[in-house]
Amino acid sequence: MLVRKRRTERSRRRENDVNELLAPREHHGMTPAIGAGPGPGCAAVVSVDGLYQRAADGLPCWVSDSAGGRRVLPVHRWLGGAGSNAADRAVDRALLQACTGPTLDLGCGPGRLTGALTARGIPALGVDISAAAVRMTIRRGGMALHQDIFAPLPGLGSWAQVLLADGNIGIGGDPTRVLRRARQLLGPDGIVLVELDPPSTGVRRERLRLETERAVGAWFPWARVGTEAAADLAAEAGLRLLNVTELHGRFITRMKLA
Ligand SMILES: C[S@@+](CC[C@H](N)C(=O)[O-])C[C@H]1O[C@@H](n2cnc3c(N)ncnc32)[C@H](O)[C@@H]1O
Repeated sequence: MLVRKRRTERSRRRENDVNELLAPREHHGMTPAIGAGPGPGCAAVVSVDGLYQRAADGLPCWVSDSAGGRRVLPVHRWLGGAGSNAADRAVDRALLQACTGPTLDLGCGPGRLTGALTARGIPALGVDISAAAVRMTIRRGGMALHQDIFAPLPGLGSWAQVLLADGNIGIGGDPTRVLRRARQLLGPDGIVLVELDPPSTGVRRERLRLETERAVGAWFPWARVGTEAAADLAAEAGLRLLNVTELHGRFITRMKLA
């Protein structure tokens, strides 16, 4: 029994290695947390799909920036459940309570929020460019599309809430474009819920790449946005900033059509 379990573990790891090499790697999106990093001599390529598969196996993943910084990705938080802490759960509760009608979760990752909304009876749709993330969302009972957030999506101009959780305003390194996209999708009385970085971050555009112990990904553009930049960015996108709430050192903003 034990031998069979070990073999299954080993073959699952091998499968992940292959997936890391084969998975598409054009787009990624991450909000990092500080930690140690992989060693030198990385040969293989890591994708977002590979990242989520590793996370499901409890293995770490890092993100490095072109300035030489390197941090552990908080994938445990994206997965939710036992891996998240009390502060993560409090922020999730606040986001979930703010979603009172049909909700579009842009860059839904493994679908923690889409799944929880569905379980509460709130219609929710996740969107993510990672096939693994979409599969994980569906496994939780949520609905999700394997799609770029800038590609055609259902319900244009009708969503009650659009979620940009965990720094997803940074997708593609262009926060104004992301907010404009959210605005297009929003219904007339809808609310965009955006998680931002702490005040004084400003708008920081960066190039990031994923790393594991043996693999690196392609560089991709990302942006981090501090709360003080929210009002101007919202205005550029045709939105109006309603408020900013701090919860356990994390910042949630609400925006509506201007
Ligand atoms: C920082 S993670 C956040 C995951 C999730 N929102 C959460 O809170 O757990 C960013 C997610 O955005 C996805 N992503 C990045 N660029 C994207 C794009 N252009 N279209 C759709 N999803 C994208 C990534 O695959 C990744 O799953």
